[in-house]
Amino acid sequence: MAETTFHTLIANLENYLEYQRDEGVQRLEVDRAVLAELAREPSEEPVVATEPTAAVKEVAVPDNFGSLEEISAHISSCRNCPLFHARTNTVSGEGNADSPDILFIGEGPGADEDAQGRPFVGKAGQLLTKMIEAMGYEREQVFIANVVKCRPPGNRTPLPEEMEKCMPYLRQQIRLIKPRVIVGLGATAIKGLLGKTAGITRLRGTWQDCEGIKLMPTFHPSYLLRDPSKKKVVWQDLQLVLKELGREPSSKGK
Ligand code: URA
Repeated sequence: MAETTFHTLIANLENYLEYQRDEGVQRLEVDRAVLAELAREPSEEPVVATEPTAAVKEVAVPDNFGSLEEISAHISSCRNCPLFHARTNTVSGEGNADSPDILFIGEGPGADEDAQGRPFVGKAGQLLTKMIEAMGYEREQVFIANVVKCRPPGNRTPLPEEMEKCMPYLRQQIRLIKPRVIVGLGATAIKGLLGKTAGITRLRGTWQDCEGIKLMPTFHPSYLLRDPSKKKVVWQDLQLVLKELGREPSSKGK
């Protein structure tokens, strides 16, 4: 492995671990093969060749896109951060882009989303769809997007610099979509949208401001799959959203 690649890998790993620590994570599972790879001298042959074929090529993201289609086209050729290396498809987002009541924003595509080029189509996505329906909407009536538009390898949390490179797309999407309310799903979405390091546990259920639009932070559906006992508080957060929108709370989500 080239020495610069090795050092970049270590720097990225440090950033990632610091970020997890700041988020309150105290335990991480690490594959033995990864530890063996990290223990090698930079000059030794890698166990798996990971040298990218193309380099990151930064192109400024325009701040005056005229349509979501223009944004998606820009995203599909984006090489502003290393996440482009491993992607199958970019995932720019989908749904009702004409001032929908709600814009849901998650972290980034997983394996299913990367394969299909659509947001929230895996297990977490199925739960999100149920949440939307329990609120009295069809999935097609809201817009769904993510902070990063390319899948982080192994579904890891996107690094702060990857989020920073991708956020201009989301800010432009918000400007064009003009949702009445934004629901931020999980710590990463909230960190990207608000730049706040305050944990999701503290911020959830409290109204925030994002680009002049009311933002409700709540837990990510993947977290609810791991800890279904948290569904109750998420439903409380979504009730606040319905109230803000002047809609009757549905009884389906209880
Ligand atoms: N998790 C996310 O945050 N976004 C998706 O699109 C899928 C899973």
